[in-house]
Amino acid sequence: MDAIRTEALTKHYTSGFWRPRPYLALDALTLQVGQGEVFGFLGPNGAGKTTTLKLLMQLIYPTSGRAEILGKPVGDVGVKQRIGYLPEQPYFYDYLTAEELLEYFAAIFGYAPAERRARASKLLDEVGIGAERRLQLRKFSKGMLQRVGVAQALINDPEIVFLDEPMSGLDPLGRREIRHLILRLRDRGCTVFFSSHVLGDAEALCSRVAILVNGHLATAGRLSEMLAFQVRGWELVVSGLTEAALQKARALGHVTGAAPLGESRYALELPLTPPPERILAELMAQGARLVSLNPLRDTLEDFFVRHVSGDARARPSTSLGAGGPEPS
Ligand SMILES: Nc1ncnc2c1ncn2[C@@H]1O[C@H](COP(=O)(O)OP(=O)(O)O)[C@@H](O)[C@H]1O
Ligand SMILES: [Mg+2]
Repeated sequence: MDAIRTEALTKHYTSGFWRPRPYLALDALTLQVGQGEVFGFLGPNGAGKTTTLKLLMQLIYPTSGRAEILGKPVGDVGVKQRIGYLPEQPYFYDYLTAEELLEYFAAIFGYAPAERRARASKLLDEVGIGAERRLQLRKFSKGMLQRVGVAQALINDPEIVFLDEPMSGLDPLGRREIRHLILRLRDRGCTVFFSSHVLGDAEALCSRVAILVNGHLATAGRLSEMLAFQVRGWELVVSGLTEAALQKARALGHVTGAAPLGESRYALELPLTPPPERILAELMAQGARLVSLNPLRDTLEDFFVRHVSGDARARPSTSLGAGGPEPS
């Protein structure tokens, strides 16, 4: 049984006050997520990620298509007990403390008072909220609220957790902590479905990803197997490179681009073959020194740009004119 399954899930919003028009936010999304997977749901802003998560949480209803969680139609009360959800912009009661908020959510799930306290305390430890847990949430930064939101999503030991942009608003340290937390959840067998507009968030974590662009599923699968993200050359930074050595390497086709970085340093673009070690050895024999060598591959942003410009079926957002939807 799949953890999550959608079939041709479609959502039209109606927008524009004077001349309401349907706006296609999600176009026939068909997706399966296995149990125990960490699944990255990627796409630029406005792609339809939050819409999909809201459909799965039954906060909004599809125009057509269907979705199942743990083999049951979304909205099944038994299933709701077994899942957790972090909304994109969690809004909490400002005057509760972090501790009170979590105990409140634990109460909603029917835990007894001692158990509520124990759960709240353990989860706040896990997301890195220390003594601040006794402060009112209105004093919390965006990053701290985000952590409280993640703790809230885990209060019922969910089998599947849905996280909408869990890393947003966090500094690099905070992002790393959330990454570790997601891996710990995976190790416990929890399925994690999270959205992000940052490829790096997914690279380190996901068994599979889906990439959504303009409401369409552009591709899904393992990142390592996606053609778009394969290494397509190398960036070699060297110092002590002479003009003559550079000209020779260019003539041989071993260097396809060169950007001077000052003081005889260059960032060179190398093709995939011959192997970069060989080209480096040739340059070093002529006095160059290695500074760094990195693979060249597309970023998610490159993918979006290429896909959007090549997407002939892009929805007619231009026809919406000034009455179009608010940016999310
Ligand atoms: N309630 C709404 N009414 C009209 N349009 C909406 C509404 N919510 C979102 N949209 C539009 O639908 C598209 C998808 O939005 P969203 O699902 O929030 O994307 P993402 O989470 O990937 O950034 C966006 O163009 C957004 O402006
Ligand atoms: Mg969103």
